[in-house]
Amino acid sequence: MPRPADPALPAIVILTGAGISQESGLATFRDPDGLWQRHRPEELATPEAFARDPALVHGFYNARRAQLRGVSPNAAHLALAELDARWPGELLLVTQNVDDLHDRAGSKRLLHMHGALREARCTRCAAVLPWEEDLSTATPCPRCGTAGGLRPNIVWFGEMPVGMDRIGRALDRCDLFVSIGTSGLVYPAASFVAEVRGRARTVELNLEPSAGSALFDEARHGPATALVPALVAELLARCG
Ligand code: APR
Repeated sequence: MPRPADPALPAIVILTGAGISQESGLATFRDPDGLWQRHRPEELATPEAFARDPALVHGFYNARRAQLRGVSPNAAHLALAELDARWPGELLLVTQNVDDLHDRAGSKRLLHMHGALREARCTRCAAVLPWEEDLSTATPCPRCGTAGGLRPNIVWFGEMPVGMDRIGRALDRCDLFVSIGTSGLVYPAASFVAEVRGRARTVELNLEPSAGSALFDEARHGPATALVPALVAELLARCG
């Protein structure tokens, strides 16, 4: 049951990207050491790529899923989880990330708009299942039993992100929009700031100016593990 909106406290929408997980040891996509510097996204992160070479795509996501076992939430994830627990007003954390670091940090009012590495989806029976191990074309679906239909429950380029109705409602109501650790290059997430600017205060926390930096009322540049706890402390000071 969502908390009743408190008119004295701003309704908050937070968008995160790969930059918030970088200090936990997970590569971003477009930094010099990023995933898309080593791989071509059209070969790994599209439905066509999966149809063309499912073993290659499974291998890419199996390696990223396995890497989650060796990383932990950092101070930025933990600060957002504390805000989630203590903020009496409306709040929604929308992440583009498919890692589970926000979940493990304890954020509850959380939406993975690009899916989750630790889930599989069956293209035959549409089941969405928690998934820890490697996936392959030989893996049978635990729900319908057929093999060859399971895919990572990840939103690939050209596919519809998850939860857009809920995100739209939250953006319509938000008084404060905070973007953290994203290059602002991938839509629809990159359009959220333009959607709310002028009626919500907009803040960017990023290592360097993102593509959309000029659209924000305020931009703070530096590592997320420094910037996010500081902003959360400012917000929590308002609600005692
Ligand atoms: N603290 C704060 N920001 C950081 C840090 C850090 N420690 N390290 C990197 N950044 C910033 C970078 O400056 C960059 O602007 O995080 C951003 C990461 O940008 P991308 O690598 O493009 O990742 P993201 O914006 O999440 O990508 C969006 O693209 O490939 C698709 O689906 C994928 O969800 C992903 C989407």
